[in-house]
Amino acid sequence: MANKDLKQQLIDSAFAAQEMAYVPYSQFRVGAAVLDEQGRIFSGCNIENASYGAANCAERTAIFGAVAAGARRIKMLAVITDDDDFARPCGICRQVMREFAAPDFVLLALKPDGSYIELSMDAILPFSFGPEQLE
Ligand code: THU
Repeated sequence: MANKDLKQQLIDSAFAAQEMAYVPYSQFRVGAAVLDEQGRIFSGCNIENASYGAANCAERTAIFGAVAAGARRIKMLAVITDDDDFARPCGICRQVMREFAAPDFVLLALKPDGSYIELSMDAILPFSFGPEQLE
């Protein structure tokens, strides 16, 4: 099934991006990959900084790369961390996902063994503030 292949590609991209994590301070590697409305995949890792607050999460690295390439809607985002449990995006990343999430957006929260759970935008950020609130 084509959709299954796309999901697997997204997952593979997230794992590959995790290998690129720049994490000299936390040693906590995170990888993410987003699928945009045109079927393109963009990936990203977390990038830390000696000035700790300047760190960027993997999810935002991936989303910002997509947006910088012209994407305005994201359909899916896969994320993997070093945690043994399913990956949990931070609150800031959830808000950034909210900005660009397509109505049918799905988060694939992965475990290192490759298993995952699928969560909707509303499940990860209920009663959220988004672009519509400024219309
Ligand atoms: N991190 C992410 O990349 N994504 C998240 O959703 C949670 C946290 C990164 C930031 C930092 O480099 C490291 O994980 C520890 O917080």
